[in-house]
Amino acid sequence: MLALMKYRTLGKTGLRVSTIGLGTMVHAGHFGPMKDSESLGAIEAALDLGVNFIDTSDAYGAGYSETQLGQALKGKRDQVIIATKGGNVMVGPNRGKRNFEPDYISRVMDESLQRLQIETIDLYQLHNPTVEVIERGAVWEVLERAKQAGKIRHYGVSINSMDEGIAAVKDGRAETIQVEYNLLAQEPAEKIFPLAHQANIGIIARVPLRRGILTGKMTVADELRFTGEDLRARSFKGEAFAKELAKAEELRFLVHGPAKTLGQAAIAFCLAHPAVSVVIPGARNAEQMRENGVAAEIEIATADLARIAELWRRGFAN
Ligand SMILES: NC(=O)c1ccc[n+]([C@@H]2O[C@H](COP(=O)([O-])OP(=O)(O)OC[C@H]3O[C@@H](n4cnc5c(N)ncnc54)[C@H](OP(=O)(O)O)[C@@H]3O)[C@@H](O)[C@H]2O)c1
Repeated sequence: MLALMKYRTLGKTGLRVSTIGLGTMVHAGHFGPMKDSESLGAIEAALDLGVNFIDTSDAYGAGYSETQLGQALKGKRDQVIIATKGGNVMVGPNRGKRNFEPDYISRVMDESLQRLQIETIDLYQLHNPTVEVIERGAVWEVLERAKQAGKIRHYGVSINSMDEGIAAVKDGRAETIQVEYNLLAQEPAEKIFPLAHQANIGIIARVPLRRGILTGKMTVADELRFTGEDLRARSFKGEAFAKELAKAEELRFLVHGPAKTLGQAAIAFCLAHPAVSVVIPGARNAEQMRENGVAAEIEIATADLARIAELWRRGFAN
């Protein structure tokens, strides 16, 4: 086990989570074809490193990721805090729509429990609800009842926009907020983290590597590699992709000392914010997982944080 995995408290849940977690979206084939042996290698490497927080969703491969985790974690349940999500319809005529109606959430929560082969989900997250859903409240009552019934331990929300995050803090019922936060998407640190920190709402930082751009391994030529079902085929193209890559180049100064790769520095950057409890990079295989795990030990120097803040303030050079 990596000697220096660190742990933080996930807001008011009181859960002690490893600062580095594992996101399993990649395991369901959303970023190109996957081999089960590689996903299982990543999960095993995570546990070896002392990672105890694994994030999934019923939407990842329409249940595939949950089923895979259920099998991989048999006999290891006690080592892991399992976070899943519901609300995105992945099968049937409403595929692609969102549904946070109480009956629907109750049903898909039961299905998640079955696929994960567990009695209780540690953290159940609403998967990208609108401000209106967050404020309306009916779905929170379902979650509270599920908590009382022992089906879930805690509940929170995964959000896309700053307004959704602010609404969740104001509403006060979510125990956690999951949001994209990385060197190229720092708005949550300005708009959500201070409020969430004050309200003791745990922050889960997702997409810390900007889906690979912040690993420093990509070039514009990679555009050709993202095809078909790979979600990156939609956004990693043309001028917008080239601009993001140029920004990543400007951040290469972060690779020094214990940060051997830009990806490690990018993950450590997320942890430099005190509101963040856990960062959940997706790891395709054991090698990526081990490289990401090292970030637990990296502290970004104050001077580097100031340089990052300056780049962010002026929108980078490009
Ligand atoms: N709405 C939501 O709730 C939502 C949305 C998005 C994500 N999430 C959660 O956040 C997690 C993380 O987000 P993400 O997977 O989209 O983005 P990410 O963590 O920023 O990027 C993952 C990608 O980075 C590359 N990578 C990871 N470690 C690497 C390493 N050590 N060296 C080289 N490349 C490496 C891999 O790319 P290659 O595939 O090219 O190897 C991997 O697919 C997801 O798994 C999911 O749990 C939630």
